[in-house]
Amino acid sequence: MKTAFITGITGQDGSYLAELLLSKGYEVTGVTRRVSTNTLLRIEHILPKLKIVEGDVTDGFNVSKIIDDEEPDEIYNLAAQSHVSTSFKQPSLTWDVTAGGALNILEAIRYSQVKKQMKFYQASSSEMFGKNFQTSKRCLVISVDGEVIVNDPVAENLYEIKKYQDEKTEFMPQSPYAIAKLAAHHLVRNYRDSYGIHGSCGILFNHESERRGEHFVTRKITKWIGEFVRWHQENPTVFENCQLQEYENLDTDYIYTQGKSGPKFPKLRLGNLDAKRDWGHAEDYVNAMWLMVQQDIPDDYVVATGETHSVRDFLDVAFARVGIDDWSNLVVIDPEFYRPAEVDYLLGVPDKAKKELGWEIKVDFTDLANRMVDSDVETQKLQRSSLQTVPNCCAKKG
Ligand code: NAP
Ligand code: GDD
Repeated sequence: MKTAFITGITGQDGSYLAELLLSKGYEVTGVTRRVSTNTLLRIEHILPKLKIVEGDVTDGFNVSKIIDDEEPDEIYNLAAQSHVSTSFKQPSLTWDVTAGGALNILEAIRYSQVKKQMKFYQASSSEMFGKNFQTSKRCLVISVDGEVIVNDPVAENLYEIKKYQDEKTEFMPQSPYAIAKLAAHHLVRNYRDSYGIHGSCGILFNHESERRGEHFVTRKITKWIGEFVRWHQENPTVFENCQLQEYENLDTDYIYTQGKSGPKFPKLRLGNLDAKRDWGHAEDYVNAMWLMVQQDIPDDYVVATGETHSVRDFLDVAFARVGIDDWSNLVVIDPEFYRPAEVDYLLGVPDKAKKELGWEIKVDFTDLANRMVDSDVETQKLQRSSLQTVPNCCAKKG
């Protein structure tokens, strides 16, 4: 039976990867940090099948001890301070976890007795490209009056310029998070070349899911929609004969339905709506991680959908799912959510992963947004019905 060790098992990707590896018959060990709150929610349903060890990737001794004890066939390093905005506020912590953590694992592998049998996966990121992209030119009109137009400088508008990133695009990171990820990325390459470690980096573009952390923009939006729909349902008299779209825009912070004295709901506060991302579903992306590790020769791969959408596009699809066509009065632009430096545009070309790994996406942009909205609406519905069920001990007597 193959054995795998996952750091970051309590995170979005860690939970899907653990499920995938268990389904393939692996024995899976995951590291969790001792914290004062419960971080096991995403893996609660598979906990009995996992081996959980306490640890922290910033503690090199602890990491070495775990790897020595477990001697896993495969190591997946998903642990990170992964929130870009937070990395501007806590750059040192981000560096220690995201870059230092990877170094600690590589060192542990380097000195392991079974180094040659271990395969390592590093969670690199499209954030490393930052402001940079490449361009390709595609002729939109092949012929006019039967004549093929190519390289005609006056016919510039007949061409589409595609901006994209792939394995050959130079990195130009824009945040402490991206710089720490880039350091880890180069460390893997360096340990591969220097010590023959079987280390591969997945340069993964944004991937989301029903389990996405609540402070990333997609989940922040869908969670808000779930709560808004619940509020709407909890105020049936207020909303009698009222469509979701009908509300009064009396001030910038709240949504009202009956003037300022009526029930109110805080608007959704967001930052830059024009940023474009290549968004896929995490379940598809953990499969790419596993495929990379199965290769005989370690390498780096871009994993992406090949499509880009703005935050605005995501809002359009997500609100449409609950019947709202115009969300403009439900959202407030708040400078607090702007970043000191932004990554404006990400669109990955995953041709290498498709060709060499046979990797494909199953969930597209619209399915992703719909699944996330449905899940958050359902979660709120369940919470509401559990609140409405008056436990026997609390029910009024007589
Ligand atoms: P996530 O949900 O934020 O999960 C991060 C995980 O790292 C959590 O399990 C967290 O544990 C753990 N962690 C944080 N600090 C740690 C430490 N000092 N020691 C041990 N564990 C620690 O992130 P994700 O979305 O699943 O992403 C997984 C990895 O892929 C991350 O490295 C991320 O940077 C990278 N990545 C993500 C994307 C994406 O779009 N999702 C794209 C490219 C790359 P707690 O539960 O205790 O906090
Ligand atoms: N989080 C957040 N919150 N982002 C917002 C908001 C907001 O209120 N409003 C607008 N945005 C914009 C951000 O400025 C950014 O341009 C975009 O939405 C996406 O932000 P996030 O969802 O926080 O993701 P990210 O792209 O910064 O980083 C994620 O993807 C990377 C891969 O490209 C994270 O998962 C990283 O860990 C990952 O490496």
